[in-house]
Amino acid sequence: MTQDEMKKEAGWAALKYVEAGAIVGVGTGSTVNHFIDALGTMSDKIKGAVSSSIASTEKLEKLGIKVFDCNDVASLDVYVDGADEINANKEMIKGGGAALTREKIVAAISDKFICIVDGTKAVEVLGEFPLPVEVIPMARSYVARELVKLGGDPVYREGVITDNGNIILDVHSLKINNAKQLEDQVNALPGVVTVGLFAHRGADVVITGTPDGAKIEE
Ligand code: A5P
Repeated sequence: MTQDEMKKEAGWAALKYVEAGAIVGVGTGSTVNHFIDALGTMSDKIKGAVSSSIASTEKLEKLGIKVFDCNDVASLDVYVDGADEINANKEMIKGGGAALTREKIVAAISDKFICIVDGTKAVEVLGEFPLPVEVIPMARSYVARELVKLGGDPVYREGVITDNGNIILDVHSLKINNAKQLEDQVNALPGVVTVGLFAHRGADVVITGTPDGAKIEE
C-alpha cells in the first residue's frame, strides 16, 4: 500500500466523527484532502465547515460545502487535521503546509481534535521534522537568532508567504523533550505569530492509516 493510500484510509475513517447538522473544522494537507473528499459525500447532511486555509476552502466549496467565517462560529465539535509528526502524548509538529496559525485557531475553538496520519508520522521524540515558525517579515533575522539560542538551526522557507502574509522559518536540529515549554518559549518571542508545536492543544483522537486499515486511538 502506498503512503497516499494510507492517508486515504485515515481521511475516510475520520468521517465517523462527523454528525449530521454539524459545522466541521477542517485542516490542511494531502491527508485532509482525502477527508474533504469523504466529507463531500455528506455535503447535504452537514451545515458546513470552518477551514484552516485558502486551499482547503477552495476544495470544500467545489464539493458544495459551505465555509463559515471562523468569527461567526463560537465552537466546533470536531476539528480534523493532519500532522507532520506526532508523539505518544499526542503532541504534534504541524505547519509543513504553512497553514499552522489558522490551524491553531480552528483547533482552539474545537472540542475534539482528530489527527489523521499515515504511520510514517509517529515518532518517539519530536524534532526530526523541522519545526515551522510563522514570523512577521521584519522580525525574521531577530527571531532566527533567538531560535539559535534555543538550540535550533532555523532555515528561511524561501518563496513561501503564508495566507496571513508572513514568512516561515523551519527549525532544524531540535530534539523536543518538553514540547509545552518550547511552545511557550517560541511563542513568547516578539515577531513570532505561531510556532507549529501543538502541545498545549494536542490531539484527542489519532487515526493512523495502515495497510490493515485505519487504527484509532482515543
Ligand atoms: C499544514 O500546515 C500541516 O500542518 C499539515 O497538517 C501537515 O503538513 C500534514 O500534511 P500531509 O497530510 O500532507 O502530510
